[in-house]
Amino acid sequence: LASIIEKRRSLHKEAYEQKKENDKLKFQLGRLQSLANLGTTTAMVAHEINNLLTPVANYADLALMHPGDEQLAKKALKKVSRNCRRATEVMEAMLSATSGRASKKEKIRLEEMIDEVFTCLARDFSKDKITVAITISPNLTVRAVPIQLQQVFMNLILNARRAMLGKGGTLDIKADDTADSVEIRIRDSGSGIKSENLQKIFEPFFTTADSDENDPHSGGSGLGLLFCKQIIDDHEGAISVDSKPGQGTSFRISLPKPTQRNDE
Ligand SMILES: Nc1ncnc2c1ncn2[C@@H]1O[C@H](COP(=O)(O)OP(=O)(O)OP(=O)(O)O)[C@@H](O)[C@H]1O
Ligand SMILES: [Mg+2]
Repeated sequence: LASIIEKRRSLHKEAYEQKKENDKLKFQLGRLQSLANLGTTTAMVAHEINNLLTPVANYADLALMHPGDEQLAKKALKKVSRNCRRATEVMEAMLSATSGRASKKEKIRLEEMIDEVFTCLARDFSKDKITVAITISPNLTVRAVPIQLQQVFMNLILNARRAMLGKGGTLDIKADDTADSVEIRIRDSGSGIKSENLQKIFEPFFTTADSDENDPHSGGSGLGLLFCKQIIDDHEGAISVDSKPGQGTSFRISLPKPTQRNDE
């Protein structure tokens, strides 16, 4: 009997030690997860701010090269002011997301938002022989966190532009209302994606964009599409891709339609 009691006592002790160890590991895991989230947020902020700052620097340089051109200076200052404000909004939205505060979804006019994205990109597509065709009904709306949906479009449009650089082509943006969702398609006639790469493009750090030593903004970090997917997932939507090497790429986003109730 004594040996049984002894055995039970030692089992209890062992269980207690294991629980303590388990609690400690859980605590460490929690901390590691917050650190990982912080890392993702930092990368996202850096990535998106970079998207917004590149045109600011380009415009400012251009204005400095033409000191007498008052109109150009005005245009450059407008870009600087607008994109800096956007950058602040991007940071605020992301910081509030990491601290657990959800950003507010709003009713957004898609056509207006796409126009705004092109304004923020501040790149002359026609200079690169890229024709942009936008077919979106002015009344078409979606419910989304504005700054996040803009990030998605900005990343997809920058990718499409890069895929067509050199040769030129067509960037086609369409959106339609279906019974229960809004379908958005962003199609380019650029380089396309090799079939073996198609499954990898949403993975972190997958990139085929080489950096050009003469252009500090040319290299890719392979994060843009990861962020797009995270944002669309957060909106309970879906993003998919269809591509033929040499012919072009089409990204399709579907977002749930605003219901009558949350449409107010
Ligand atoms: N429209 C497209 N046409 C051709 N390839 C594309 C297109 N969009 C994405 N890709 C491929 O997917 C890869 C990953 O895209 P993603 O946007 O995640 O990263 P990136 O553009 O390389 O870098 P980053 O966006 O971080 O600056 C690209 O490097 C490219 O190979
Ligand atoms: Mg990209």
